[in-house]
Amino acid sequence: MTDLRKKDETAAEHGKCMLNRREFLMYSGTAAAAAGTISISLFPGQPQAKAQVVGYPRKLIGKLSELQDNKPVDFNYPDEGPNSQCFVVKMAGAKAGGGVGPKRDVVGFSYLCTHQGGFLNGKYQAVGDNRVLGQCPLHLSTYDLTRHGIIISGQAYQSIPQVLLELDGDDIYAVGMMGLLFGRNQNLMES
Ligand code: FES
Repeated sequence: MTDLRKKDETAAEHGKCMLNRREFLMYSGTAAAAAGTISISLFPGQPQAKAQVVGYPRKLIGKLSELQDNKPVDFNYPDEGPNSQCFVVKMAGAKAGGGVGPKRDVVGFSYLCTHQGGFLNGKYQAVGDNRVLGQCPLHLSTYDLTRHGIIISGQAYQSIPQVLLELDGDDIYAVGMMGLLFGRNQNLMES
């Protein structure tokens, strides 16, 4: 009983400094390249430290009603800088991790292969239930778009970066990025 109460108190303390996904998206969606600081303490009773929170831009990238099955639509994210080429695609009912829409089949990804930056525009494939990006023209890597872009085969050893999407009515917004864009040491360039 005492242990349970202790656990609850510890969880409550930790809750003060943890962001859930919704809070993270709220921070990340406020303004283009918004940055701010929050105070956190990693352990109960420890002095608080300042941590920088850098937000991704919330960018309108298309309308759900205008997407055609298995036809990628290009956009740049999180900025117009190098290697920011991305696409959004409605995968004709293939439910995906991170997918939005009634069938959870709308996803966004980078076009840059994580191995050596091969350009994957035009390499989206829908074969049966599979939704694949690749083969990369340089060394033949392929990625599974239903499972957060993990590698299926080839020379790459990191998943293709996935764009976090939000649906607001018919509007699709890019609100963040999972994974590091090829050729960058951080996704958000210094402004
Ligand atoms: S650059 Fe794509 S597999 Fe090497």
